[in-house]
Amino acid sequence: MENEKFIIQGLGGQRAFEGKIPVRGAKNAVLKTFAASLLFGNEIRVDNVPFIQDIANMNELLRHLGVGVERIEEKSFVLNSPDAIGTDLCGDIAKSFRSSIVLTGPILAREGKVIFPHPGGCVIGERPIDIFLESFKKMGADIDMHDRQYVISADKLAGAEIVFKIPSVTATETLMMTATLVPGKTILHNVACEPEIVALADFLNTGGADISGAGSHTIVIKGRDSLLKSKEPYQTPPDRIEAGSFAILAAVCGKDIEITDCKPDHLRVFLRTFDNAGVNFETTENSIRIKMSPQLNAINVKTHEYPGIPTDLQSPLAVFLTQASGRSLIFETVFESRLDYLSELSRMGADVMICDPHRAFITGVTPLRGREIESPDLRAGLAFIIAALVAKGESIVHNIHNIDRGYENIEERLQMVGADIKRI
Ligand code: EPZ
Repeated sequence: MENEKFIIQGLGGQRAFEGKIPVRGAKNAVLKTFAASLLFGNEIRVDNVPFIQDIANMNELLRHLGVGVERIEEKSFVLNSPDAIGTDLCGDIAKSFRSSIVLTGPILAREGKVIFPHPGGCVIGERPIDIFLESFKKMGADIDMHDRQYVISADKLAGAEIVFKIPSVTATETLMMTATLVPGKTILHNVACEPEIVALADFLNTGGADISGAGSHTIVIKGRDSLLKSKEPYQTPPDRIEAGSFAILAAVCGKDIEITDCKPDHLRVFLRTFDNAGVNFETTENSIRIKMSPQLNAINVKTHEYPGIPTDLQSPLAVFLTQASGRSLIFETVFESRLDYLSELSRMGADVMICDPHRAFITGVTPLRGREIESPDLRAGLAFIIAALVAKGESIVHNIHNIDRGYENIEERLQMVGADIKRI
């Protein structure tokens, strides 16, 4: 709800949390799978779905298009796309979250037309959609603008060879889905390699799609002229951003914490950085255990497309760096305005020097002080919760609907390791 807030009592720099904390299914995987339901001629089942606001928004959009969406178990949904689907994405909802854009590809491929507003989401930079528009054009679509809505239409789409100017995650997923139902061969160059893209390609392939190369920078799709037939449920992979954020929380507040139901393999470069910073951790195939480290050391953090350090972990890492000894550099290479939250962190006591929109120095160790703060976006919102748990005294975090967009019952899971956090 819009006016809810978190009241947090911090540890004042102690490392006291203990226990297990489970990771939910990946938001940025499952949203795309829900959109992919439009490519199937039968019901699809999706398991390990996190119960978050972005999923509620996606479901509302899908229902508006005519898709049957049913939650059959706590973490499982079935989605059933009708013979004819709507072509108009409902303005207000589509504007509220970035993933709405991934619906455009399947709708265009099926109906030859799609109308949608510029997608919203976290305010972390310009977030253009030129790669989507150029790619649709290459496949034979016309692009128009009416009443601040994009109108994309095509009498006939055909496979094409497309070179992305930047390896955009959602553009890769959208074009992969579009090309699945477009006759001919599509080759996508310079695409993103995130594990969520591989999971989507694997799922589409089990339904009869012909996609190769997902997980590399070139993906080849041989289009089909009929809808896919789902044979197996989709298992949502664990959320690597949630796992990484919990690992950071454990390093700065934990005595002995085990992060369960995750895939450390998806966080290799991040964990390598943790190693360099002196974090005491061990991994199994599906867990990360972090014990108290004698000292955390300054490190340089450069965000990068997968398999590099995810931009979505940049803000929690900044909190980590306030507790690491020495001067660290943060270099945000993916988005334009993703350091804005640092001014709030410095008001909590962090020693931050912002050099330019992409780079900042953080010098630690500094004690943090509890404060009243506003969550500016999903990831910085969780970073503020971690900062508040490190800090001395009480913090109040407002705007937590931003955090609920991507983290299921975050307070309940933090309470499991001993955090004093209440939703009011
Ligand atoms: C996805 O966003 C994620 N969102 C983001 O997570 C994540 O931060 C980002 O990938 C990078 O990993 C979803 O999956 C829903 P991009 P996306 O297109 O696809 C530029 C979160 O908190 N670009 O890979 O929107 C763009 O400006 C969110 O969960 C263009 O220039 O990101 C950026 O600089 C935040 N033209 C770069 O590409 C385009 O048409 C990479 O962005 C598209 C993107």
